[in-house]
Amino acid sequence: MPSYPIDMNVKPDVKAFFDPMTNTISYVVKDPQSASCAVIDSVMDIDYAAGRISYTHADEIIAYVKKSKLDLEWIIETHVHADHLSAAPYIKEKLGGKLGIGSKIKVVQDTFGKIFNEGTEFQRDGSQFDALFEDGDTYQVGTMTCVAIYTPGHTPACMVHVMGNAAFTGDTLFMPDGGSARADFPGGDAGTLYDSIQKVLALPDDMRLFMCHDYGPNGRDIRWETTVGDEKKLNIHVGQGKTRDDFIAFRTERDAQLDMPRLIIPSLQVNMRAGDVPKDPFGRKMLKVPVDSL
Ligand SMILES: [Fe+2]
Repeated sequence: MPSYPIDMNVKPDVKAFFDPMTNTISYVVKDPQSASCAVIDSVMDIDYAAGRISYTHADEIIAYVKKSKLDLEWIIETHVHADHLSAAPYIKEKLGGKLGIGSKIKVVQDTFGKIFNEGTEFQRDGSQFDALFEDGDTYQVGTMTCVAIYTPGHTPACMVHVMGNAAFTGDTLFMPDGGSARADFPGGDAGTLYDSIQKVLALPDDMRLFMCHDYGPNGRDIRWETTVGDEKKLNIHVGQGKTRDDFIAFRTERDAQLDMPRLIIPSLQVNMRAGDVPKDPFGRKMLKVPVDSL
């Protein structure tokens, strides 16, 4: 396993924003030594039935960054989300910052470019983003060195981002009583997800872990923060030394019973374009529905 440049003495301030429509948690992460910050996994609101987009959730984040007088340096997507739309371009327009995602976005663009029958104007080279991270790549948020760890399985482009003693897991892990995310989307793989989770569990036990989603299993309140130590002890899908074979068998059976996420069709089309809504030949914002292909 590669060793990553991690400094547990750096303790960023983490402010969470929960979106109840999609059960997504977005984060503003502030360098403890400066006013620099990053935004992770923002949400654009959509009324899918009406085809209407709005920015209530993103505006909350923007207001917080402005009120706290922070400089936004990076807008990070942990992966191409299939359950909510990214507000990255809107936040970038208002606050600046560079937009980064895993380099395997190109694989996701190729897969879904075919499914959505996109034309040649849809670039499949990740050029819609400012930065494409490889495993172990670092970037700065003020004085804080952040590292992207490649964690495929849920999707081919997933990455966990470590900032000081905080790691943002995307959908590679859920809270201990939530277990793990599905691995059955095109390009997903349960065994690969298990291997990626082991990379996260190899981080220091007191590393704070911040989830991208929580669904409040068994009626508990929504929570989003845990630690590597607690995941190792308590995670219902991978904790207490569950084997790779156990995980693959369980995950495959469970995934076969899951419905597609409500917003998968608009989410993929928007998120594979770095949050831009596609346009028809007349320049009008327009989404497609591929029939019987997901
Ligand atoms: Fe996801």
